[in-house]
Amino acid sequence: MKSISRRFFAAGIAVVFCLGSGLALADSKKKEQSEEDMGFRKQSLYSEEKEKPDHGEYSKTEPGKSKRIERAFENSPPLIPHDLTGMLPVSETNNACLNCHMPEHAKALGATALPKSHFFDMETGKDLKGQLDNKRYPCMQCHVPQVNIPEPIKNTFKADFRSKKSKTSSGLLDTLNEGVK
Ligand code: HEC
Ligand code: HEC
Repeated sequence: MKSISRRFFAAGIAVVFCLGSGLALADSKKKEQSEEDMGFRKQSLYSEEKEKPDHGEYSKTEPGKSKRIERAFENSPPLIPHDLTGMLPVSETNNACLNCHMPEHAKALGATALPKSHFFDMETGKDLKGQLDNKRYPCMQCHVPQVNIPEPIKNTFKADFRSKKSKTSSGLLDTLNEGVK
């Protein structure tokens, strides 16, 4: 019994070996893939010199006149639709975003108010009672402006929104524990 299984094992190794070398032969006949053919940039992978990424133009429409962009998926950080000239970088002593997006200013200016989640410490579960959580201070870490340029690969992602409202507004703090309690 033992010697039979050993023989099968040896035969198995031989078959794998033959298959392997056959594949290697077939491979060597194929044209080698050049580095320039890899990826979308059609350039050597070792040089950035000739590569000029197309960043497009960010919106030049001033806040108050731009059009909000539909959320990418439910409770995703909304994209910035307006011009940011003069507002960046957000620094330790200056955050222009807050001038318009703090709830007490937002309504009068037609801006979207910061949501409840930004006044809440997600780590400790503590309600900060209207004080901005420090981790939310660098807005650009999560919110980004958009440009209208053709995408190199078509994005086929389709978000499922559970309500019409969630396409245009956030409510993470209200839904975070759904199904948990
Ligand atoms: C002068 C006021 C003002 C300033 C400063 C400002 N915003 Fe806005 N923001 C608005 C208004 C008003 C809108 C609504 C769209 C519009 O009317 O242009 C808006 C829209 C947005 C939206 C989209 C909200 C949604 O519901 O889709 C985001 C995200 C945003 N701003 C982020 C920022 C960030 C980040 C900064 C700082 C770098 C900033 N804003 C600075 C007024 C402002
Ligand atoms: C750590 C990531 C993060 C940071 C930093 C952050 N946000 Fe958000 N923001 C989000 C996410 C995620 C949402 C949507 C889910 C939610 O929290 O309700 C959101 C939602 C929003 C909304 C939409 C509110 C609504 O009712 O629809 C506004 C406006 C906004 N943020 C502005 C800002 C501004 C201005 C700053 C900087 C002061 C900032 N955010 C910092 C992640 C972030």
